[in-house]
Amino acid sequence: MSKVKTSFFCQSCGSQHTQWQGQCNSCKKWNTLTEEVVNKPDKKNWSLNNKVITISKPQKINQIELSSESRIKTSDAELNRVLGGGIIPGALMLLGGEPGIGKSTLLLQIAMTMNFKVLYVSGEESQRQIKIRSNRMDINSDQCYILSETKTQNIFSQIEILAPELVIIDSVQTLHTDFIDTSPGSVSQIKESTLEFIKFAKETHVPVFLVGHITKDGQIAGPKILEHMVDVVLHFEGDRNHIYRILRTQKNRFGPTSEIGIYEMQSKGLRAVSNPSELLISEKDGNMSGHAIAATIEGIRPLMIEIQALVSTAVYGTPQRTTSGYNTKRLNMLLAVLEKRAGFALGTKDVFINITGGITVADPAIDLAVIAAILSSYHDIDLSENFCFAAEVGLSGEIRPVPKIEQRIHEASKLGFETIVISKFAKIEKQNKYIKVLAVSKIEALIKKLFC
Ligand code: TYD
Ligand code: MG
Repeated sequence: MSKVKTSFFCQSCGSQHTQWQGQCNSCKKWNTLTEEVVNKPDKKNWSLNNKVITISKPQKINQIELSSESRIKTSDAELNRVLGGGIIPGALMLLGGEPGIGKSTLLLQIAMTMNFKVLYVSGEESQRQIKIRSNRMDINSDQCYILSETKTQNIFSQIEILAPELVIIDSVQTLHTDFIDTSPGSVSQIKESTLEFIKFAKETHVPVFLVGHITKDGQIAGPKILEHMVDVVLHFEGDRNHIYRILRTQKNRFGPTSEIGIYEMQSKGLRAVSNPSELLISEKDGNMSGHAIAATIEGIRPLMIEIQALVSTAVYGTPQRTTSGYNTKRLNMLLAVLEKRAGFALGTKDVFINITGGITVADPAIDLAVIAAILSSYHDIDLSENFCFAAEVGLSGEIRPVPKIEQRIHEASKLGFETIVISKFAKIEKQNKYIKVLAVSKIEALIKKLFC
């Protein structure tokens, strides 16, 4: 076995150093050196189930067979959709998300419901702890193997003995490889361990899921290059205090990146939500002002969400603008438009906006619903529960069209809304006869229609 050689490379200019130092000799930047393996013993061929897998050779593109590349369907329809139809053999998939959001729960659930051998490797929990989790989720499987291990070489030798068809690693930050001396979680360990798993996945066609922790600002911890190295990057997000979770694709080499999956965290694990619009709209008991429903699009999926607004007299000199799930700067802009174009004195009012279900929406098509909710609270007049909105509001108070309007109208009619307010300039090719479309071009016209 030839000796492993490591060197320290500057992440900024790429120059090589024989030992770690604070500053790079070449570009003079600080704290940019990380250890990397420059020469390591070649891994022998993989042998899974006594089948030796040889290193690949160049092949003509028109001779490459696709039959083995057909996607593996999981039992989770939301995950299949997010991945673009299922798992591609040999894909390396990174699942990031805040602590406690449900990454381990989601992957254990997948591992336990596959009808082939799955190896779930945890560097964070013991086998017993995982068993307790699976008991809680009330599912059982005789094809799911649990390994509590962090050293990549040991994981690979177990993989060779077991020959699983799917490997799950929870988490990449706990992995460490013998080739590098630094502690698990360091940039060089994460990079080297991931490279080993990429090599494994590509050579054996066994798909691998890696769980990745994220930093305070929402990035996957470790080198940014990690996201370049893997085939698929998924983000699991949501508010930990709410039950809804959204699985979003950030990168997908084999499918669209605009898909989302919606889950509900229950006491028995995660449940896919197939009709999210119905759940995101709260039940009303009698008349309530300050509520408006928006037809938004998350990824490529139409979704009806409820916007709640509260307008009250400001007690302090500076009025408060607080939002949950909505951009505060955008709210300030809409308030300025209402003040300047429609003459509302909101400068002395506190305004609070909340999107129910704990989800965050960046789609500008909810502008009109935000304005309608604010005005409804301001006048203390409730909007008809059969109304919904889908339009953007511009700086001069004009109501602008939004993309995919037909899909939004269709979703609204599916949920039984009777009227949808959209921009006068929206182009609708196919009329929907089950819902009335109210087209407006300016804020003033909206106010006249709703509150006069
Ligand atoms: P977990 O999967 O451990 O999160 P992560 O791996 O992303 O850190 O999820 C932990 C949370 O989910 C925890 O707060 C408890 C909750 N939970 C349920 O509500 N129901 C369940 O069935 C399970 C297993 C967890
Ligand atoms: Mg976990």
